[in-house]
Amino acid sequence: MLSGKNVLLAITGSIAAYKSAYLIREFIKKGAQVKVIVTEAALQFVTKVTLSTLSKNPVYKDFIKNEETGQWNNHVDLGSWADLMVIAPATANTISDLVSGKGNSFLLTTFLSCNAPVFVAPAMDLDMFKNKSTQSNIKILSERSVEIIEPTEGELASGLEGKGRMEEPDQIVTIISEYFLNKATLKNINILISAGPTYESIDPVRFIGNHSSGKMGFALANEAQKRGANVELVSGPVNLETPENVIRTNVKSAQQMKKEITDRFKNIDVLIMSAAVADYKPVKEYDNKIKKQEAELNIVLEKTPDILKDLAKIKKKQVVVGFALETENELENARQKMKRKNLDAIILNSLSDNGAGFGYDTNKITLITPSENRKFELKTKDLVAKDILNFIEECI
Ligand SMILES: Cc1cc2nc3c(=O)[nH]c(=O)nc-3n(C[C@H](O)[C@H](O)[C@H](O)COP(=O)(O)O)c2cc1C
Repeated sequence: MLSGKNVLLAITGSIAAYKSAYLIREFIKKGAQVKVIVTEAALQFVTKVTLSTLSKNPVYKDFIKNEETGQWNNHVDLGSWADLMVIAPATANTISDLVSGKGNSFLLTTFLSCNAPVFVAPAMDLDMFKNKSTQSNIKILSERSVEIIEPTEGELASGLEGKGRMEEPDQIVTIISEYFLNKATLKNINILISAGPTYESIDPVRFIGNHSSGKMGFALANEAQKRGANVELVSGPVNLETPENVIRTNVKSAQQMKKEITDRFKNIDVLIMSAAVADYKPVKEYDNKIKKQEAELNIVLEKTPDILKDLAKIKKKQVVVGFALETENELENARQKMKRKNLDAIILNSLSDNGAGFGYDTNKITLITPSENRKFELKTKDLVAKDILNFIEECI
């Protein structure tokens, strides 16, 4: 459940901070990316060098990155980068600051900016933990949906015995994995996603293609796997890394795309066709490179198979969502396409919207269903993927 997730680990000034080094390794073993924030006090117990070496990322402590140039660390960006934030160990002092809403440190402002689930693993001496202020602060955090990872009982750094030891790193990772497993809203759902362009060969050197980068389809695959789905991605030629936990099959032409999608269709629950599949291909594919000549060259094109239309005929329980990129009469054309192809929804993106469509990291969509048009703001493709998968969850 943690594979591919962005983990923000905040370390505060407890003797248990040495365990955070192991915690980083446990997260990385599970396939997560880790970025670390420390408080001033935490650096009395662990060094930045240890933490940055293990996490393979710079360690954050202050707002200002470079006094001379005024470069600063962006707590808002870091908060939205995180899929989860873990404060481990969490001192009595930091727990109290979290409750009060203070924002006078990099850790606290990042906490306030972070919309992802937050886990707090207290670590302190038994009487500090039992103290009514600490207990009341922990209760308030818990009521505000912060997940508390209870400390365990045992020998404490003070030499006393009792409850206050930070939970062991492997246990913290297990607790967090189980949390996400329970929240995996698409668990056991088989999702097939197509992405990228298709290339239709003219000769061994040339082809007819389009500007699709595949970014939208890959963002969908990544978000679906984060929600626990079994994801297969059939991709045209793109220059993108396969998201974690996603099975990828590469194709070139529309015909190959059709075969791979059709072969899998009867075993899936959801198909999202975000690929920009060519509508036409050359009738003849030349065996050798066409030589430059004086005369005009005409290439005769024929229609490629209409994948969605053909699947509509054998569609049973599957939720099928298509994409439409229109340049005129957009809403009406997209709605007609949805009806013709018997789709559950069609995602319209328009080339007339700045920042939307091919190649951009952002997109602006209208989700068209048989009963409504849902318009969304321009946002990153990762966030657009969330909107689309929220709709898929409604459908299933
Ligand atoms: C050796 C030593 C160990 C400490 N261990 C803890 C601890 O386990 N839990 C705790 O709440 N405070 C502990 N403290 C006190 C905190 O370091 C202190 O409250 C500090 O201000 C916390 O700052 P921070 O919350 O910004 O990291 C310890 C202090 C020292 C000197």
